[in-house]
Amino acid sequence: SGPEMARRVADLAVDVRDFPQPGIVFKDLTPLFASGPDFAATIDAIVEHYGADSFDVVAGIEARGFMIASAVAYAAGVGVVPVRKVGKLPRKTLRETYALEYGEATLELHTDSFTPGQRVLVVDDVLATGGTAEASLSLVEQAGGVVTGFTVLLELAFLEGRKRLKPRTVHALLTV
Ligand code: PRP
Repeated sequence: SGPEMARRVADLAVDVRDFPQPGIVFKDLTPLFASGPDFAATIDAIVEHYGADSFDVVAGIEARGFMIASAVAYAAGVGVVPVRKVGKLPRKTLRETYALEYGEATLELHTDSFTPGQRVLVVDDVLATGGTAEASLSLVEQAGGVVTGFTVLLELAFLEGRKRLKPRTVHALLTV
């Protein structure tokens, strides 16, 4: 159930102070990924939330999003497509650059990642400011995919990433 999954994520997330920079409290989800029963429950909860018939392919956001996206795709019997940091994809790509607190970041997606109208579930581990998600969803749409959902394990609500993604909806197993 929703509350049960939220509790699992909350119990297994480890707060790491001052990582990657002083003043930031990093939410480390590696213990959740490392626990077989908890990882399986996480993936099942995502597939159940959307329904395995509601998407044709899963897009995962580098790097932690890949782990979740691959498992969701396998569980649903569909393929997985990577949204990558710049310079990693070998063929023709679309690019989106977005602002970080200091500097900027660029994500890429192969232009031929989807057939037109293909329904895409976009997956990442954490929603913080929403910059990564906004760029990723835009790339999927530019590539001809239809975003059927965006899902994360953990949403940091105080950073208001959800607002930035409107009118798209966000599914989070745990919101803090
Ligand atoms: C983290 C996280 C999300 C993003 C969320 O990725 O996995 O992708 O930041 O932040 P935002 O909502 O403020 O954009 P990171 O860039 O640390 O990459 P990694 O998964 O490769 O470590």
